[in-house]
Amino acid sequence: MRIFLIGYMGSGKTTIGKLVAKKLNYNFIDMDSYIEATQFKTISQIFAEQGEDNFRLMEQKCLHEVGEFDNVIISTGGGAPCFFDNMDYMKNNGLTIYLKYSAQELADRLGGAHVAKRPILANRQGEELTQFIAEGLAKREQFYAQAAHYVSGDISSEVNQVYNLVVGK
Ligand code: S3P
Repeated sequence: MRIFLIGYMGSGKTTIGKLVAKKLNYNFIDMDSYIEATQFKTISQIFAEQGEDNFRLMEQKCLHEVGEFDNVIISTGGGAPCFFDNMDYMKNNGLTIYLKYSAQELADRLGGAHVAKRPILANRQGEELTQFIAEGLAKREQFYAQAAHYVSGDISSEVNQVYNLVVGK
């Protein structure tokens, strides 16, 4: 069993993924952390020094590596489903679950310190951040929407929804 959690930045993929993995006694992989550990650089450094195109290549390579692991919950980067054939790859290699939130909910979670380590958000705040997320979501939704299941709600409800989807399989 292999589960891919997908969704925009701030949707809680890492938090939910860790909690569900613990409950199921599964492994947990966060793709951004995996890339940082293998590159010995932060995501911000990779974007600044090598550019987004190179980051997307690293992300695809990482996906194909972690896509071979078993009994694992994988927290993907927010952009991962939207590049190359990554979404098809995930659909063919595991259970895809979309953590779905509105632009306003995401902006509320991402405001403040959380934007700093996300180069795509470039330290936007307030109304500018909400607007930027709304535009980004509108473009990405066509990829996210291909997930086999959608979940939303507060953290404990999401953990239960994801857990039930996995054990129900
Ligand atoms: C990105 C999301 C980030 C990270 C990178 C780019 C995106 O992951 O991969 O900063 O394009 O949405 P999180 O969704 O875990 O923040």
